[in-house]
Amino acid sequence: MKWAGRLLGTLGLLLLLAAGGLWWTQFNDGVDIHDVTPPAGEPEALVKRGAYLARVGNCLACHTERGGVPAAGGRPVRTEYGTVYASNLTPDAQTGIGKWTANTFWRAVHFGRGGDGRLLMPAFPFTHTTLLTRGDADALYSYFMSLPPTAGRPPAHELRWPYGSQWAQAIWRTLYFKPGSYQADPGQDDAWNRGAYLVRGVAHCSVCHARRDALAGADWRNLQGNLLTAQRWYAPSLVDPREGSVADWPVAEILRLLKSGIAEHGRASGPMAETVKRGTQYFSRDDLRAVATYLKALPPAASGKGPESVPANAQQEARPGYSGQRLLGEAVYRDHCAECHGENGQGHGDAYPALAGNRAVTLPVIDNLLQTLLYGGFNAATREYPRPFGMPPFAPTLNDGEIAAVLTYIRTSWGNDARAVRPSSVHAIRGRNKVSEAP
Ligand code: HEC
Ligand code: HEC
Ligand code: HEC
Repeated sequence: MKWAGRLLGTLGLLLLLAAGGLWWTQFNDGVDIHDVTPPAGEPEALVKRGAYLARVGNCLACHTERGGVPAAGGRPVRTEYGTVYASNLTPDAQTGIGKWTANTFWRAVHFGRGGDGRLLMPAFPFTHTTLLTRGDADALYSYFMSLPPTAGRPPAHELRWPYGSQWAQAIWRTLYFKPGSYQADPGQDDAWNRGAYLVRGVAHCSVCHARRDALAGADWRNLQGNLLTAQRWYAPSLVDPREGSVADWPVAEILRLLKSGIAEHGRASGPMAETVKRGTQYFSRDDLRAVATYLKALPPAASGKGPESVPANAQQEARPGYSGQRLLGEAVYRDHCAECHGENGQGHGDAYPALAGNRAVTLPVIDNLLQTLLYGGFNAATREYPRPFGMPPFAPTLNDGEIAAVLTYIRTSWGNDARAVRPSSVHAIRGRNKVSEAP
């Protein structure tokens, strides 16, 4: 029995050592937050640069409550683990960052640690802001410190156990978080590197577009498409030509999509419309061009979400019930959709999107179609396209069978060749609260 006791003792000791190691690596980042050296550079220029970054990095949008004081926090960020509330980033001494040094701010964006030293929740995309250069972090700090101080403590986070605990965060970080500023790839030109810095870091497109695993972690450079579980929207793969890749779009069209929200062969809907409205429309032309350069250069890869090449129509036609479903779908389309989208799905100018040859219609993952059909929607309202037309919600007027039928119809007509939609898939989404609190 002696050896068993010894074994247990050794195991316990190892466990303690591992825990200590975990603690040490996560909390020992060596930043001296009491060092009061001000950021290097001309204050006015820093504030201006910071204001731009806070816009395009979506910091302001996420840290401002709907209708609230800019940057004063309190906005809920819903995740599948619960709700997290954004912090007050105004320089209020008690509830904001008033007492912070530039180093405290740097530690937050680079190491993901709060003013109080806590490991912050990854709802704050520190996995991406860690790529920020020290200069950009200082600019952001200068900008937030220049705002009028506003008192106000955000509500306490509502996270399911154990996700809110510091232990869970420490473990998650050892798996998915590597602090480190962006390192330019010397094999690429300046535009590509600026684009990579924006997409991966500042604008953190991969927060939505990177394929996540069961613990919501990812290789953040991967843009292979991801279902946003809290919102029930699918952010398509940006490397798959059948999904959201823009590799073969002219640069001007990519700029138009990110600036105005609509383009010839795509438009920003749902969470992407929010991203354009709050973030990308404010990018400078040069920065948008850099993003386009980076996106166009991404090596193409199939998302693996659908059959690779077999035409769906050919397989489906033999199935019992399929032609009946299409017939019903055609009738629904004529009665409810054709007035806007056209008899042959050709659309109408910028106002109403064409459904023929539209990737949003033929995506293997149908969540976005279901969201649009059931709950309606708008494209982004932007300075270049201020009053987008709306898509009416059909949840009140069409039943599950009719919605599945009309979706099947538009997915298999006018040259579109995608899988039929089952009424049970419509049923599964209907009734879930539509959450539009996209980051
Ligand atoms: C998706 C929404 C979202 C975006 C985008 C976002 N944040 Fe946050 N941020 C949060 C949330 C939520 C927290 C609180 C995390 C916590 O308390 O664990 C937070 C916390 C912080 C903190 C720590 C505050 C404290 O009191 O300790 C800082 C600093 C911060 N964010 C800065 C930024 C900057 C700079 C940007 C833009 C580059 C940014 N955030 C973008 C949601 C966001
Ligand atoms: C909040 C989540 C979110 C973020 C952040 C986000 N996207 Fe998206 N994106 C989506 C969703 C959802 C869609 C699918 C709906 C649509 O097509 O608009 C999408 C679609 C796209 C498309 C395909 C558009 C089309 O019509 O084919 C492109 C290109 C794209 N995103 C690029 C970007 C870039 C570049 C960024 C970073 C600047 C970004 N996204 C950030 C959620 C997001
Ligand atoms: C009053 C005009 C109107 C009617 C009627 C209408 N739509 Fe739409 N539809 C729009 C507008 C505007 C958009 C763009 C807004 C968006 O994407 O959220 C849109 C978007 C869509 C999209 C997404 C396309 C994309 O590129 O993202 C699909 C799919 C769609 N409609 C299908 C239908 C179907 C099926 C019907 C009939 C059941 C229908 N619509 C009825 C106006 C309409």
